[in-house]
Amino acid sequence: MCGIIGFVGREQAAPILLDGLARMEYRGYDSAGIAVRSDTLGLQVRKTKGRLQALSDMVHGGVDLEGALGIGHTRWATHGEPNDVNAHPHVSENGSIALVHNGIIENYMELKEQLLRHGVTFASDTDSEVVAQLLEYHYKECGSMLEAVGRCLRRIEGSYALGIICSDYPNALIAARKDSPLILGFGENGNFIASDVTAVIRHTRDVAYMNDGEIAVVTADSIDVFDSELSPLEVEHHQVDWDVSAAEKGGYPHFMFKEIMEQPEAVRKTVSPRIRDGRVVLDDVRLTADYVRDISRIFIIACGSSYHVGMVSKYNWERLLRRPVQVDLASEFRYSDPLVDRRTLVIVISQSGETLDTMAAMREAKRRGARTLAVVNVVGSSIAREADDVLYTWAGPEIAVATTKAYSTQLVLMDLIGLYLADLLGTVSAEEYAAIVAGVQALPEQMQQVTDRVEDVQYFASRYFNHDSIFFIGRNLDYAMGLEGSLKLKEISYIHSEAYASGELKHGTISLIEPGTLVVALGTHAALFDKAMSNVVEVKARGAEVLAVTTGRFREKMSKTADAVVVVPEAHPILQPSLGVVPLQLFAYYVALHRGCDIDKPRNLAKSVTVE
Ligand code: F6R
Repeated sequence: MCGIIGFVGREQAAPILLDGLARMEYRGYDSAGIAVRSDTLGLQVRKTKGRLQALSDMVHGGVDLEGALGIGHTRWATHGEPNDVNAHPHVSENGSIALVHNGIIENYMELKEQLLRHGVTFASDTDSEVVAQLLEYHYKECGSMLEAVGRCLRRIEGSYALGIICSDYPNALIAARKDSPLILGFGENGNFIASDVTAVIRHTRDVAYMNDGEIAVVTADSIDVFDSELSPLEVEHHQVDWDVSAAEKGGYPHFMFKEIMEQPEAVRKTVSPRIRDGRVVLDDVRLTADYVRDISRIFIIACGSSYHVGMVSKYNWERLLRRPVQVDLASEFRYSDPLVDRRTLVIVISQSGETLDTMAAMREAKRRGARTLAVVNVVGSSIAREADDVLYTWAGPEIAVATTKAYSTQLVLMDLIGLYLADLLGTVSAEEYAAIVAGVQALPEQMQQVTDRVEDVQYFASRYFNHDSIFFIGRNLDYAMGLEGSLKLKEISYIHSEAYASGELKHGTISLIEPGTLVVALGTHAALFDKAMSNVVEVKARGAEVLAVTTGRFREKMSKTADAVVVVPEAHPILQPSLGVVPLQLFAYYVALHRGCDIDKPRNLAKSVTVE
């Protein structure tokens, strides 16, 4: 979603801002803009609907805009259609203040009416412009920019990450945050603000994560942070430990393909520090055996693909822990008056750590007394910092909007957590514990076997890419995996697709199967293979074209009925989805490629969904 960058230093700001925005393009946007201040020209604002390239062309890569202080933004429209005027930065009426904003100002209508009554005129339809006008109002009132920001923030309700510059302040930009991520970057030639570490990583690895309610004053040589009452705060520095190349394509045609291919390594990085001498070690987690024995119920809460990880984990955890595990969509959980109390353990799963619904659901769970454990990829993200415990997936930066390596690392980390809890509860035998640990250790190598043979899937995608409706069917873990395969396909190829629990077919969906309908049949869950097979026969009998995914031992049986079969290595049963999902990701990728889709930035989707 929207991206913010700000720079103040000893270099031209505009090229740095454009580069930073380009690195956040993956988040999704529909318009872009920058504002730069110079002594001679004051505030110069350029913005446009459409791709960043259009903005860059407008200012000749930034060389046209003089000044070493500036802010930039990529907008994903919420209030007001995507057009040049609604694009950020927004400028106050007298042209002295420019700002960029991520988030939503909930009481903007009320504030706008108050300002209108004071004779202020508005240029855009956005909630963000209200903040610019309100700031000018308070600045005129008190004469201090910092004080004006403080007064303004006390009046606005909702979420924000703000980057503000003022023509009267040649050397500083001001940042503020509430419920929308913002980082501070300490560079050699100047300092930064950004909504995403990827925007500044080329310039610095030395960052600080702003907390809710904080305001920062950033100059070329210093960053000072204040609380909402403007009292100074200590700044905690963090070193970003991943490399610039991790956020670049490195010769791959798309980030999504690169990230699919990186999965063996990402899984290795996620599991290897957590297995020592055959034991699962979760150093960062403070759950005691007494606490775990007292848990009456476990919730897993997430959105999208992270929710699908939860679906797999429900099957696996209930089997390992013999405790009820409920998986809920965060957007449903938060308004469902959930049965949660202090004996409930709530696991939240999020790649970005910023998904608003997941965050709100976690807060609701905490409010009701539950203990929360977050599985998160982005270090220092809001969910990671607010959860009682956090375990990071070490997938590295994930740039493609459609998640792949984050999904895989979440899945395997959830397997380890499940095993860890089962061990504390004494519900897993020593033999099974050892078999699962060995299975987890073997996964990266087995995933590599799948990614080494992309041609198989590539071929099937070329055969089936022009279907306009595709069903994924499977039972148990295969069903949970099918949900992810189906989502991957529809989000990047725009083909209508549904995932069904095979046994449910005859209760409705089978009426949609007609000669030529493509059904992706998942038959990797050995315990229910025969049942899954009978559903394959059922859809074949109605004329479906069947592409199956199974393991070596079932290849022959499956080949007798299915039209095409993809084989994946066999793993410990609970780990099988980690292997089965890879061809599904590749299938979605190649189908989208054949259809000429914008794979890394599918329409209407954003990488991190920070609105409700
Ligand atoms: C699908 C996808 C989304 C995310 C969902 C949750 O490919 O990426 O469905 O899984 O928006 O995002 P996080 O995990 O960042 O909370």
